[in-house]
Amino acid sequence: MTRPRAAIILAAGQGTRMKSALPKVLHPVGGRPLLLWAADVAERLACAPRIAVIGANSPRVEAAARAALGAEGVAVQDPPRGTADAVKAAGAALGAFEGDIAILYGDAPLIRAETVERMFAVRAERGGLVVLGFSAADPTGYGRLILDDEGRVARIVEEKDATAEERATRLCNSGVLVADRGMLFQLLSMVSDANAKMEFYLTDVVGLGRSAGFFTHVVEAEEAEVLGVNSRAELAEAEAAFQARARAAALEAGVTLIDPNTVYFSHDTQIEPDVTIEPNVVFGPGVSVRGGARIRAFSHIEGAEIGPESEIGPFARLRPGARLARKVKIGNFVEVKKSNLGEGVKASHLAYIGDADVGARANIGAGAITCNYDGFDKHRTTIGADVFIGSDTALVAPVTIGDGAYTAAGSVITKDVAPDALAVARGKQSELSGWAEKFRAAKSKPAKGGPE
Ligand code: UD1
Ligand code: CA
Repeated sequence: MTRPRAAIILAAGQGTRMKSALPKVLHPVGGRPLLLWAADVAERLACAPRIAVIGANSPRVEAAARAALGAEGVAVQDPPRGTADAVKAAGAALGAFEGDIAILYGDAPLIRAETVERMFAVRAERGGLVVLGFSAADPTGYGRLILDDEGRVARIVEEKDATAEERATRLCNSGVLVADRGMLFQLLSMVSDANAKMEFYLTDVVGLGRSAGFFTHVVEAEEAEVLGVNSRAELAEAEAAFQARARAAALEAGVTLIDPNTVYFSHDTQIEPDVTIEPNVVFGPGVSVRGGARIRAFSHIEGAEIGPESEIGPFARLRPGARLARKVKIGNFVEVKKSNLGEGVKASHLAYIGDADVGARANIGAGAITCNYDGFDKHRTTIGADVFIGSDTALVAPVTIGDGAYTAAGSVITKDVAPDALAVARGKQSELSGWAEKFRAAKSKPAKGGPE
């Protein structure tokens, strides 16, 4: 039986290097705030409780943490006095918890649950503490893991406190730590702030543990996995690393990406095998695509369900609440929002379908739009099965078009249309014969007194 697990996510830092009005841990990678990546890992690991340590006066971080972890999953560290002090701040929220704790970071979105799982496994097997190390291409700024002859960690030395020899070590501390609660808090009570930064370093528990007879083991991860975001450049790096991972996963799962590097996924994009995605497609959060669908170039899709064998784009925009059944065709410059489209619906060019229910096989002509908003409220449009909406029809909602009905091109439809009827709502055409010829003749005479 595995021991009970808890997670503490450190997120009390200021994030000043982001130069942003938005708190650092709320900046998104793959469409999800950094903090929620860590919260998700903690959840996948079945950690309970899961506690975020946040700074004072950060209402937005607090709201995000509460939404993800519940009110009991938020602890405030005030003032921030180092990573050891931050972990201590979560003590009360741990309540009566006994078992292993994983310390995660609110600004490190790429850590895999499997990696922390390996750390729990090492702890179960060998006891003591487990830190996550990595071999840094450039170790500047990181704490160094100083190993003993048996490959265990003797201590962690922060860059600012390291000797030249210690700085030459490339094996660095990611910060992620797994330890037993009782052991960890006992060691934390012994940490002092007698160091270069005058902070309480969590990393000191390693050396202190050794003196108390608890050894520290190291699990190694790829550097990309432990990347912490401190600046916009690192945010972009983390995004790139996430995208690379998502593209590889899609290909592995049987999705064709014609030019993988130009397709952008969100953290929760779900794509079934045998979907083809053409170049330059962006998936915002909340998208699922069923098998056999094709997403053509330059489409932007968010919050949408795309049915099997549907064809989207090129240049299509699907917005939240777009739900497309099987074999739906959405062509160029068509926008769909909060609408249900039945099987085989076609909107091939230049249309806006918002707040609508569209029956199977309906055909929406070029330039047709739902007029769903009156400046105050949104209204629904109901289009029956096998309806033909003529080009440039304006459907002024709320309005219902019965099954099998037609609307004539250019109509402004303000009243319901009966099934199988044709609704015509446009000015009658009249003709003035020879008018154009006379007009041209009048215009071709030299203008009197006008400017040249
Ligand atoms: C820390 C580690 C270092 C490691 C590096 C990895 C310590 C002493 N050092 O250094 O060994 O190589 O991370 O990136 O732990 N935080 C709080 N409250 C605080 C201070 C920090 O919540 O009082 C949070 C920050 O928001 C951040 C994380 O803890 O998410 C790390 O803090 P930071 O100051 O960036 O630590 P480093 O100096 O980078
Ligand atoms: Ca840092």
